Amino acid sequence: MAKYEIHGGTPLSGTVTISGAKNAAVAILPAALLVKGTCRIENVPDISDVRILLDILEGVGAKVSRPEPGVVEIDSSGPINTSPDEHLVKQMRASYYLMGALLGRFGKAHVALPGGCNFASRPIDQHIKGFEMLGADVIYTDAYVDLKPSEFGLQGNRINLDVVSVGATINIMIAASLIPGQTIIGNAAKEPHIVDLANFLNTMGARIYGAGTDTVKIRGVNALKGGTYAIIPDQIEAGTYLAAVAATGGNVLVQNVIPKHMECITTKLQEMGARIINYDDSIRIQSNGHLRYTTVKTRPYPGFPTDMQAQICVCMSRAAGFSRLTESVYETRFFGYCTELQSMGANIQINGKTATVIGVEKLYGATVEAHDLRAGAALVIAGLVAEGTTIVENVHFIERGYENLVDKFTGLGASIRRLED
Ligand code: EPZ
Repeated sequence: MAKYEIHGGTPLSGTVTISGAKNAAVAILPAALLVKGTCRIENVPDISDVRILLDILEGVGAKVSRPEPGVVEIDSSGPINTSPDEHLVKQMRASYYLMGALLGRFGKAHVALPGGCNFASRPIDQHIKGFEMLGADVIYTDAYVDLKPSEFGLQGNRINLDVVSVGATINIMIAASLIPGQTIIGNAAKEPHIVDLANFLNTMGARIYGAGTDTVKIRGVNALKGGTYAIIPDQIEAGTYLAAVAATGGNVLVQNVIPKHMECITTKLQEMGARIINYDDSIRIQSNGHLRYTTVKTRPYPGFPTDMQAQICVCMSRAAGFSRLTESVYETRFFGYCTELQSMGANIQINGKTATVIGVEKLYGATVEAHDLRAGAALVIAGLVAEGTTIVENVHFIERGYENLVDKFTGLGASIRRLED
């Protein structure tokens, strides 16, 4: 298994360019199966989750090409198998979007349950509820989900989510795009990648309104045509680099971002003492590495993202005073990295949904293991801050969602290299 070797203590400087948003790409690529034609999708990040999804799409019969870096062309006009490869589906979380795409386009699907980062129990009952409300008969076992039209056929409906779920909002939006009638999703999630998916689908001829609010309306259409679409920049990747500079100190221009998407993160880093300058599509961050304590409660967008919990915790570990970090989406997310940070000298006390983080003078290099994507990214930041050498193991988790992380940090002056076992 590959690992990263990091020599900490160097402030970061220079410019880093953010890639396309992972959580938008993993929704848009399966959604291309709805289109009887060719979709040209730009700003696609070259990460393992994307590579697996493209293998899945090819496996069901789509024609996939990569004419240039960051660009994917998908032609789903030919025959498509509605039972995607089980082994590939199990390798990631977002493969469950194939359920909505295959149900919407072909009226049936047989999809193995997804895999992905297991930092918490991640049920899909809201997805299933949505498909049933759209008129599907669902067989849901501990191995797969099987979907086909009920005797009344598929029909738009009003679906109120019991929890604000990004995945369920996306899956229902994808399916409903080609299902006759109007579908209204109540208590919908509002993340930027949901808006990006809606914009992609509307570019291909869908009729989706209200994405980004808690009520999304979809009017099913007969067919979607091909077209071209560019994915938005990755809010969490950008937040990860901003948090790294805040913690290590330095002066970095983070480019290819949408500042509006970053507000929930940049305002927190400013509270902690970093200087933030917003431009049209970039953000400059300056920090002396001496941070102030703060309080963070993670919330669905536009709140502070749960996917930035681990990264801000590292900043708190170096902030003078007591910080409090409360998780509202995945209660057990702390356990993916806090033990590792404590082995590097961090002082973190977890009590249910809240961690109290007492700032320490130094973190010390150690050998630590990544247990999930964002926990792994946080351990990289901790290694960049720590005195001495840190080895981060199981970096395949990190490479699921961060394109060229080693090159990007090296470009900012960090001492980090990838070692194969
Ligand atoms: C998406 O996961 C992201 N993954 C996650 O990012 C992110 O942490 C999460 O949204 C929250 O923002 C992708 O987009 C591929 P949810 P998802 O459905 O869709 C409960 C990363 O690091 N819930 O919004 O699985 C669930 O247990 C990954 O990029 C149900 O109860 O998240 C959780 O408590 C990690 N039933 C809450 O809702 C359901 O059917 C939010 O989950 C679905 C969810």
